Amino acid sequence: MTELLQHQIDYYRARAPEYDEWFYRLGRYDRGAEHTRQWEAEAQQVRDQLHSQSGFGHILELAPGTGIWTGELIQIGQRVTALDASPEMININRAKLQSDRVDYQQVDLFEWRPQRQYDLVFFGFWLSHVPAEKLAAFLDAVNAALKPGGRLFLVDSRAPDLATSHTGAEDLGQDLQKRVLKDGRRFDIVKIYYEPAALSAILRGHGFAIEAATTPDFFLYADGLKAS
Ligand SMILES: C[S@@+](CC[C@H](N)C(=O)[O-])C[C@H]1O[C@@H](n2cnc3c(N)ncnc32)[C@H](O)[C@@H]1O
Repeated sequence: MTELLQHQIDYYRARAPEYDEWFYRLGRYDRGAEHTRQWEAEAQQVRDQLHSQSGFGHILELAPGTGIWTGELIQIGQRVTALDASPEMININRAKLQSDRVDYQQVDLFEWRPQRQYDLVFFGFWLSHVPAEKLAAFLDAVNAALKPGGRLFLVDSRAPDLATSHTGAEDLGQDLQKRVLKDGRRFDIVKIYYEPAALSAILRGHGFAIEAATTPDFFLYADGLKAS
C-alpha cells in the first residue's frame, strides 16, 4: 500500500505539466466540440453550486493540483491554505494564481493531521484516490479540520470514462487503474468511483450533514456542513 501511494504521488509529480489538458479537454483528451461543450457546461454546474455561498474566512483545499479549483476558492474566501504532495503541482498553481492570499504547503495527506480549523474544506478529484482502507481516517481528519457548522465541498469523477478513452487509462479492477503519460511512462494508481447515495451515507457516517449529487454525465459532487 505504501508503495502504491508513493507511485500515486510520483504519477502526479510527473503529470503536473500536462495535467490541465485533462480538465480543458485538450490534446489526447479532445473528443470534439460537442463533448467539450457538455463537459464545460457540467463543470459550470459544479462551479455554480460552489459559488452559491461565499464570504468564507479561511478555506482549506486538499490536493489542489494546478489550481483549477483554487482559482474559484479564492473568489469565495479571504484566504486559502492549499496542501499537496507534489512540488511541481504547487509551483504551477502558484505561478498561475499569483495570489498572496493562497498559502501552499507540501504535505502527504495520508500523514496529515489538521492543526487548526477552517470555514470551508474543499477537495477536487481527490476522494477517488483515497484507498478504501484509508477513507475513514481521512474523513475523520477532514471533519476535525472544519469549524462547527463549517462547509464541506467535494467534486470528483462520476463514472469510469474508459470506454471511449484514448488517454491510456486502463481499469485494473480492485480500485486500481494504470495511467500512461504522454511520453509512455506508466503508473498504477487508486481510482474509486462512488454512487451519490453511497457517498452521502459514508459522509453522514463521518459527521457531515451532506447530500451528494451528479451532473448528467461527468461529475459527482457533495455540498454540506459539519453536523453539529
Ligand atoms: C487528480 S489531481 C486533483 C488536482 C485538483 N484538485 C483538481 O481538481 O484539478 C490529484 C492531486 O493529488 C495530489 N496528491 C497525490 N497523492 C497525494 C498525497 N498522498 N498527499 C497530498 N497530495 C497528493 C497530486 O499531486 C495531485 O495534485
